[in-house]
Amino acid sequence: MNHKATLKDIAKACDVSVTAVSLVLNDRPTRMSQKKRGLIVETAKRLRYVPNQAARSLATNKSMLLALLIPDIENMFFASLAKELEDVSSSNGYSLLIANSDDSQHAEHKLLRQFASRGVDGLFLIPSRESVNNSKTLKKDVSTLDFPVVLTDRLVSDDWCDAVGSDNYVGGQLAAQALLSKGHKRIACISGDARTGNMNRRVAGFSSVLEKAGLPLDPNLNCSGNYRYTGGYHAADHIIDAGATAVFCTNDLMALGFIQRLEERGLSCPQDCSVIGYDNISERLGFNHRLTTLDQNISAMAAACNDVISSRIKDMGSESSRRPWITQPKQQFIRPTLVNRATISEL
Ligand code: RIB
Repeated sequence: MNHKATLKDIAKACDVSVTAVSLVLNDRPTRMSQKKRGLIVETAKRLRYVPNQAARSLATNKSMLLALLIPDIENMFFASLAKELEDVSSSNGYSLLIANSDDSQHAEHKLLRQFASRGVDGLFLIPSRESVNNSKTLKKDVSTLDFPVVLTDRLVSDDWCDAVGSDNYVGGQLAAQALLSKGHKRIACISGDARTGNMNRRVAGFSSVLEKAGLPLDPNLNCSGNYRYTGGYHAADHIIDAGATAVFCTNDLMALGFIQRLEERGLSCPQDCSVIGYDNISERLGFNHRLTTLDQNISAMAAACNDVISSRIKDMGSESSRRPWITQPKQQFIRPTLVNRATISEL
């Protein structure tokens, strides 16, 4: 088997100490000449030296690994959030392990155990829908982990763990204000899955503004969806036939499904029905869709998640046994932004 070059091999070839080699390859300050530093770097390349992370982890008690557990890898919102979290983690020297629970509490439980066995230094956790609906098992699992956890996006209002999420209530209010400002009075809503707290907060904010305007949300126009394209598509006929002139979909995938069905029936958006979504996935994924939507500012969300987990990792050592991310949790809510495009218009 080919010999894997070590720090010792490089030190011997350059006639310097192993410490000197380690300082140079880790960009640490040394009194060495530029010439000598260059020789060490060139020699490491020539010998095809690869740092031994396992050895480094033993020495530093840090794996330089973070983990992200997402609930639905096919939903582009989570793909975009994963990208932001990967960018910010790698800029801090961490690798990010990404896994998908497929909204299953059983899969989530298994993956949390696997992260623990991999010795990750921290976890960004987006709970599965099953856990949002019944968080007892999740809370028990998280309480046994000896690394910091940041609840991300979901279950962030329950303040049992460090958390960063969107201010969904404000997002719903902004959607209602936008439609009322265009003169709409018969407004529908397609919610996500009743098992996720985010959807409930969006609908609550949305309904509160309609209520204040004297146009309470008609229960017959408050349809449940599934946070997927089909949820919007299959709710469309009922909403169109009930005479709504505008609809708030609590995520973009359902908004796109609604518009598809509207157009299949020979109608058009916004002329026959205005539509607002939530997530702004089109901009993130580079297709210039005309959908008016709420942007969750996931760059800010990822930065806030990183700040929380970095400060917890820094304070570890004696802290880990106390798990301050659970005993003294901090919550942060990122304000969403209305992105006005072409799918809402005057009545
Ligand atoms: O599109 C999926 C939705 O579920 C997003 O709005 C996100 O907030 C997640 O909770």
